[in-house]
Amino acid sequence: MTAGIDDISIYIPRLFISASDFAYARGLDIQKLENGLGISKMAMVDTNQDPACLAANACLKIMQKNNLSPKDIGRLYIATESSFDESKAMNSYVIGMLEQVYGNESFEHCGGIECKFACVSGSYALYDNSNWIRAGEAEGKYALVVVSDIAKYDLRSSGEVTQGAGAIAMLLNDQPRLLQFDPKVTSTSIKNEYDFYRPFGKETPIVHGQYSNLLYLIQVKKALSTYKKKVFANGLIKLKHDETILDYIDYLNMHLPYSNMGKKALAYLLRHEWRNLSRWTNIIKKIKMQEPTPQNVKGTIESVLADSDFMKNDHIFTKLFVNTREFQDVYESKLASSLIASKIIGNLYTASLYLGFRSSLEFEFQKGVDLADKRIGFGSYGSGSSAMIFSGVIQPEYKQIVKDMNLEMEIGKRKKLSLEEYEEIHENKRNVDENILDSKKEFILIDVKTKNENHGKRTYKFNE
Ligand code: HMG
Repeated sequence: MTAGIDDISIYIPRLFISASDFAYARGLDIQKLENGLGISKMAMVDTNQDPACLAANACLKIMQKNNLSPKDIGRLYIATESSFDESKAMNSYVIGMLEQVYGNESFEHCGGIECKFACVSGSYALYDNSNWIRAGEAEGKYALVVVSDIAKYDLRSSGEVTQGAGAIAMLLNDQPRLLQFDPKVTSTSIKNEYDFYRPFGKETPIVHGQYSNLLYLIQVKKALSTYKKKVFANGLIKLKHDETILDYIDYLNMHLPYSNMGKKALAYLLRHEWRNLSRWTNIIKKIKMQEPTPQNVKGTIESVLADSDFMKNDHIFTKLFVNTREFQDVYESKLASSLIASKIIGNLYTASLYLGFRSSLEFEFQKGVDLADKRIGFGSYGSGSSAMIFSGVIQPEYKQIVKDMNLEMEIGKRKKLSLEEYEEIHENKRNVDENILDSKKEFILIDVKTKNENHGKRTYKFNE
């Protein structure tokens, strides 16, 4: 049995803050945001939006576009790390909202849970639901996997420049029009880590930024090494002499906490994959520098980060490497299009990887590339920490889906927030009904009870 993504929809809130206003207000060099991190705008939620609203709006879009009724959906999974309840799953809120449109109890037959593992949980949800389909349990119904998050960091923290908000809904079935997952190659790595975490009751995470960057790279590399073993064992890809697995991946989509993290990851993975190939000898000749190695043999992340000579030299080496024609060719042909949406939307945590996938499809198609049969590699990472590598192949019917993709039109007319408005929303100083934008044909939050036995109860409405 096969399984994959039949269609994909996005819902991005229309408020944003601009990197230039933000840099000015925080006394940062705009070049750090625009060139160093690759951020020009960050999407922000209004006072009457929460991650469940974003998810319900993405679900409604995909159901309406495909003329689906609730009876066509067998499972509705939500992956998020912006959960606001320790017990009641976000799915139930979303189903409550969708039933305002489709009728009371119309989703009663449907199953699903809320999934958590920082940004990687959406990939686990996709994998588990694909296996539900492959096992023949779907009985002709779709699985709807939704990734929805509000990436929110403390004011004036180093993570504040890497915020964003949005949701993506993915419709899975056994005859997908868009992407069929490669079977039996999905690979994971997992480790107990404190790179980024959000203890109970805290709205923003505790982050060790540089540690998290390096851990992301190491975990993804580990998952890739398992992926390679699986791919070679089942014969999906056969390497010839002097080749790497990445030669056989047409497009790469990486988890994007900020768009340049994709480029960092590509550079890191290529260095490891190319190191023993003849092309590396030429690159080292061009760079005129030997690849640095850490002095400390312990090799822990702390010891690597503390080795300031290594870190400095490795930074110089990476910069030289990413400027080579060899790197630039791979970057432009396999990765660059996936970074475009992230630059103007920001971090979507669980949804970031899939925003990148969506971005790659739209902007590669616009270049006139025929995407049929192209193999897409996915590098998913979630703090705490786990990575997942998997792949899939674009299906011949993909044009039916991709031809209508238009990021700007789908987001709609955006409104720039002043820094004052941004800080008021960020610090929850405005009430739910003190919204900035009027909304039409979408779900909004209208009330959160704060007292006694109804504490935390949320009410939503569909704004006609
Ligand atoms: P930072 O220390 O503020 O910035 O932290 P930096 O000094 O590392 O600079 C960033 C880049 O800008 C560097 O580029 C600088 O050189 C450059 P690089 O060398 O890496 O290519 N730069 C400049 N460029 C031009 N002109 C200038 C200039 N100044 C500097 N004047 C950090 C950055 C991302 C760590 C911070 O924003 C942060 O803590 N963010 C939150 C954590 C995060 O995003 N971690 C990413 C990996 S972990 C992950 O992805 C999981 C996550 O999504 C959560 C989850 O799983 O749920 C976060």
